[in-house]
Amino acid sequence: MNGGMTTHDVRKRKGADKLVMTTAYDATWARLIAGSGVDMVLVGDSLGMVIQGQENTLPVTLDDVIYHGRAVARGFRAAGTTWPHLTIDMPFGSYQESSRQALKNATRVMKDVPAESIKLEGGWMVADAVRRIVAAGIPVMGHVGLTPQSVQAFGGHRVQGRESEAADKIFEDAVSLERAGCYSVVLEGIPTPLADRITKRLQIPTIGIGAGPHCDGQVLVLYDLLGISGPDFKPKFLKRYADVHGTARDALAAFAREVKDGTFPDEAHSYSGIAAGPAPTVAYSSPGAKKK
Ligand code: KIV
Repeated sequence: MNGGMTTHDVRKRKGADKLVMTTAYDATWARLIAGSGVDMVLVGDSLGMVIQGQENTLPVTLDDVIYHGRAVARGFRAAGTTWPHLTIDMPFGSYQESSRQALKNATRVMKDVPAESIKLEGGWMVADAVRRIVAAGIPVMGHVGLTPQSVQAFGGHRVQGRESEAADKIFEDAVSLERAGCYSVVLEGIPTPLADRITKRLQIPTIGIGAGPHCDGQVLVLYDLLGISGPDFKPKFLKRYADVHGTARDALAAFAREVKDGTFPDEAHSYSGIAAGPAPTVAYSSPGAKKK
């Protein structure tokens, strides 16, 4: 059992304090996020684009999300006794075949990663799968609207639910997920009034991304909100809270310059040859390593 926020804690935040969620894929960032005030972390299949350099999320595998999920959980553990609620995304092809396949793969995730829940995309189509997974004791977060695993069907990452028929369909999808037992639902890439309507109708919290201000919480991809993804990625919904891309570029250029002109390493960053006492420890930064 980990020391994270439970699904019950998440549900209690409906209509109360806003839920704050971001993604993470490795131990170093997880350790940093753990003390930051972020409530929830998603090991999203966005790792396909962010970490693997894929064009979309479709190639991501179950092994990938488990690998990154375990790294994030280790980062949380190294950070202290309490840490954010951890959710693992079910990748494309791991749950759509049947509710039996969905349960089998969700079970594997929960056995391999100390997470609170899994997330999957889709509405009424996945309601049976959700029911079966929830009945087995695994909490499920839903995800409707611009569901990236359907990018080919949508013809790109486009805002969904702009016409009233499409909006009604997304509304019904969200309702069917609540009925099937989801404890929360991500609303992605939909107009503000639709997200507001869904949030008012559901008793479970909605977590928005590109869905306006009325959701019960907000999620952004970590690399986007920190400005790691770079200045060219600028969808309307994204607010960058830092320019890590620029800072990292400057640091790398300075490192390259100093190595080439011989200013690094200087004496302060070199070991002396005088053997007084035991040899100094060479410690590389490892979030899981015990401090000596
Ligand atoms: O994969 C992901 O990062 C997501 C979030 C954008 C919600 O699904």
